[in-house]
Amino acid sequence: MAGQIPTQFIDELLARIDIVDVIDARVALKKAGKNLHACCPFHNEKTPSFTVSQEKQFYHCFGCGAHGTAIGFLMEYDQLSFPEAIQELADQVGMQVPTTQQASLSPAKQNLYDLMDKVGRYYVHQLHNHPQRQPFQDYLQRRGLSAATIEAFGLGMAPDGWDNVLRTFGSDQPTTKQLLDGGLLIKNDQGRTYDRFRNRIMFPIRDRRGRVIGFGGRVLDDGTPKYLNSPETPIFHKGTELYGLYQARKANRKLERILIVEGYMDVIALAEFGISNAVATLGTSTTADHLRVLLRAAPEVVFCFDGDRAGREAAWRAAENALPMLGGNQQLKFMFLPEGEDPDSLVRKQGADVFRRRIELAQNYSDFFFETLSSQLDINSMDGRARLVEIAKPYLKHVPAGVYRDMLEQRLAELSKTNLSTLNRHLEKPVQAKPKARKTAAGSAAMTPIRMAITIVLQYPILAREVDDIRLVQSLNQPGAAILAELLETLHQHPHLTTAALLERWRDKENGAHLQKLALQPLSLSADALKHELTGIIMRLHKEAKQQRIHELTSKPFSELTEAEKAEVRSYK
Ligand code: GTP
Ligand code: MN
Repeated sequence: MAGQIPTQFIDELLARIDIVDVIDARVALKKAGKNLHACCPFHNEKTPSFTVSQEKQFYHCFGCGAHGTAIGFLMEYDQLSFPEAIQELADQVGMQVPTTQQASLSPAKQNLYDLMDKVGRYYVHQLHNHPQRQPFQDYLQRRGLSAATIEAFGLGMAPDGWDNVLRTFGSDQPTTKQLLDGGLLIKNDQGRTYDRFRNRIMFPIRDRRGRVIGFGGRVLDDGTPKYLNSPETPIFHKGTELYGLYQARKANRKLERILIVEGYMDVIALAEFGISNAVATLGTSTTADHLRVLLRAAPEVVFCFDGDRAGREAAWRAAENALPMLGGNQQLKFMFLPEGEDPDSLVRKQGADVFRRRIELAQNYSDFFFETLSSQLDINSMDGRARLVEIAKPYLKHVPAGVYRDMLEQRLAELSKTNLSTLNRHLEKPVQAKPKARKTAAGSAAMTPIRMAITIVLQYPILAREVDDIRLVQSLNQPGAAILAELLETLHQHPHLTTAALLERWRDKENGAHLQKLALQPLSLSADALKHELTGIIMRLHKEAKQQRIHELTSKPFSELTEAEKAEVRSYK
């Protein structure tokens, strides 16, 4: 896949962007000596072990072993594919990704995105031009939406009729198939194909990059179903996507808080009132994947639910899903609305300021957690308190070990009127997650000279110029010699590559992962000492290469050697 984006382009891209900016926009970095650091975004921790090297254009977490280049970071953190990460970075510095890249999204997927986009624009066009648009326009007006909001959310109209989309777009077999794949058409048992969305207000659902991946459609009256959503498709996954996240990120330079509400109209009505940080799940409950996406997008996530029984139950399901993600720098909160209201109705009745104040008063996770657990118990009785410990136990097990978990336990001890040590005897301590990466000491024992040379060249590419003769290294019959030679050759041709740029060249090669490890190897020597180390190693390798060659030549009878080989043997004497 990577092969389709020219290496030269990736070199150039990595030379123009700065990994510090890329990461700092998502995780606030602090200066720490030569590098920058932060609490690792990929695991829960209290003290920062996530380090970014500006010089190497590389990040590494000493706690969980996560590491990579700016491209790798975006792939992990924003959950992008390789070409998407490239695109994102290129957009930032205004570079045009060579068109061959288009092919690296599978052509089918790319066409599906294009098609969804076209259909979305068709629905918008209908809303403004269709002869029967008036009831739709009236409906949106009744719901209090301004033209600007309608445009910001790309609302449209699916006209009445069985084949509007089919006729407009499905003139050929392949496109008809794509419309089916994209969930815009339905094929019935008789094999007849017709439009899924008819006579509805259309809400395009966008992914985080703004691409249309599906639709929700609402009836104008009280017909059923009230909302019809796209089915799961190759590009639309309800369990991970969130309605409104793209618009929220667009409207806020930095999202400090995200509000999760239940409906499309809630997201849009709040935005109409200037509360532009709400998102909605797509008719499903909030999954752990949703939470992961949200906690990466903002440090605080507030769940907003109806105050009725169903709302409280949905909140509890969300709370359960959140257990493995508690702690760190992130906060989860819960707010409950008066019965019979939703954010849309409430913000209209009471205005944005009152709604904002309600958000400020949202309940902490821990308060909601213990309140819900003890609501079924009498914690004034000893039996009730014992029961509380019993029912809390299995939940606490899912919380990552750390300050937050300790504090929940502390709170449980207070509520149950036991002390922590008694409590701890009853709570099974979870096994603390082992860091993924071994912390490799610069164990020179395990470090052959070639590995050491590779490590130095990778981490200080500029030192490659100290080595003139690559052919001798190439001829060495030792593990790693070929990689060392290739690295040196690459750097002779492109002397300005950084560690990150080198690693990207090896991304899809067999030894890529191995090189990443060496790039992380702590080197305690100064750059100057490393230069000596490298030239020393190369000198020894040259000597070994010579000996290896002499051995090869002298193990054959002299008479079988070619004239050139004979001359070579003489030159070594
Ligand atoms: P309005 O009546 O337009 O204000 O709707 P709402 O935003 O208040 O939605 P509601 O609280 O009724 O539902 C919340 C969300 O659940 C909607 O945004 C949809 O995602 C989903 N939903 C609601 N009704 C249906 C339905 O009939 N079918 C499906 N599949 N989803 C629905
Ligand atoms: Mn509503």
